[in-house]
Amino acid sequence: MTTPSETNVQLNEIMRATEANLLGTVHGGHLMKAVDSIAGVVANRYAGGPAVTAALDEMSFLTPVRVGDILHSSAQLNWAGRSSMEVGVRVEVDRWDSITDRVHVASAYLVFVAVDAEGKPKPIPPLDLETPEERRRFREAEIRREHRLAMRAAIEASREAERSEGDA
Ligand SMILES: CC(C)(COP(=O)(O)OP(=O)(O)OC[C@H]1O[C@@H](n2cnc3c(N)ncnc32)[C@H](O)[C@@H]1OP(=O)(O)O)[C@@H](O)C(=O)NCCC(=O)NCCS
Repeated sequence: MTTPSETNVQLNEIMRATEANLLGTVHGGHLMKAVDSIAGVVANRYAGGPAVTAALDEMSFLTPVRVGDILHSSAQLNWAGRSSMEVGVRVEVDRWDSITDRVHVASAYLVFVAVDAEGKPKPIPPLDLETPEERRRFREAEIRREHRLAMRAAIEASREAERSEGDA
């Protein structure tokens, strides 16, 4: 069995001018792509094959990233269910023009689903929790999962009610 820390992946990249927005800082979409990409690496490796992004929780951008900064992304599995898994990602930067502590840029939680060749959900192995920190992350991921599924069910129920009213 695999522990969450064994799933950890780290990626570093220098921010280029091609990633800049109209203000000259790094485009939020580039950071979102970096988050989705590294989370995908974690999920694919854990699933032993393709896994697709099913959901991305709210993501706040805490400070601007500048062209030339070194972006450090770190991701690992928090939770694994039958076919779905939650990956946590933390993004930090080293500034290009000073040697200071790393700056926290953004964090996000993503849900991936392992899929077969037809794109249908397929089973993944259970996660081996070893440390108190891993167990805390797993518990908190379960709380987030309940919220996501409850929200999805409430929206579906609301749409169904609207359809029924339209038919009446
Ligand atoms: C993700 C996808 C495969 C799920 O298919 P589905 O038929 O809805 O599957 P199910 O309802 O059986 O759900 C499968 C699992 O995903 C979970 N899941 C699906 N949507 C979810 C969401 N929004 N939030 C949390 N979990 C979710 C389910 O709870 C279930 O978990 P479990 O197997 O661990 O118990 C399908 O919706 C899909 O292909 N989406 C498009 C993905 C995509 O194109 N992503 C971007 C490119 S990678």
